[in-house]
Amino acid sequence: MQETLTSLTQHHRDGYKFVQMMKDTAANRFDDAFWTTWAKWIAPTLSDLPQIADFGCGPGILLQLLRDRYPNAHLIGVEYAPYMLEAMDNRLYDVVSYDLHEPNLPIADNSLDAITNIFCIHELAQPIRLLQSIYRCLKQGGRCLIIDWVRGPLDNYISTQFTDNNIFDSNTSHETLNDIFTHFMEHNRYTRDDVAWMLQHTGFTILENVPLKEGNFGQWVIEK
Ligand SMILES: C[S@@+](CC[C@H](N)C(=O)[O-])C[C@H]1O[C@@H](n2cnc3c(N)ncnc32)[C@H](O)[C@@H]1O
Repeated sequence: MQETLTSLTQHHRDGYKFVQMMKDTAANRFDDAFWTTWAKWIAPTLSDLPQIADFGCGPGILLQLLRDRYPNAHLIGVEYAPYMLEAMDNRLYDVVSYDLHEPNLPIADNSLDAITNIFCIHELAQPIRLLQSIYRCLKQGGRCLIIDWVRGPLDNYISTQFTDNNIFDSNTSHETLNDIFTHFMEHNRYTRDDVAWMLQHTGFTILENVPLKEGNFGQWVIEK
């Protein structure tokens, strides 16, 4: 969808810088706590030849880490932003270029042991088709790990995201203020319970629904 490309370009600002930022900050997202969660909830349910997909995989860093851990796995990355697709490595995993707003994602029904969806939901205008695709593609008993921004206080967001900007300075431009407040709304779309409600209505069993990083993010482990 053209509107998806337009909103991703606006949200990511400079796409190539955003790719680099995703790489530079990957160690914070895929840290020891992430792998502890993986070991507790996802690893025990994987089959001998695991089928794992990362929906909204960015430049494919998590897939690279999964390739190291699971040399025999079939790995799939789903992305739609052109600069992310360029940064992906199709020698390590299959690349599917697809807008997750759309139904009929070209991955077979009941085919995946596990899906990851990391900091993606907030970038979609609505996540219903994405959640339905996760449900359709997972095997019965398959699990998905979702991590994303959740609603939080404005002052916390401004101080952690925009340390260089003083929004109350009369010299701060109209464009800068619009950009900051648009991003605030995009990063503060849902509470953890809003996401849980959508997951339940999609048909999932919620195994975990917990806050991360002082409550700025949520983490959900769900099962089909
Ligand atoms: C904040 S980035 C996180 C990337 C990756 N999950 C990571 O943590 O390194 C969110 C990713 O979701 C992708 N995304 C957002 N909306 C999408 C859509 N409608 N279809 C496919 N990918 C989408 C973006 O292009 C972006 O690469």
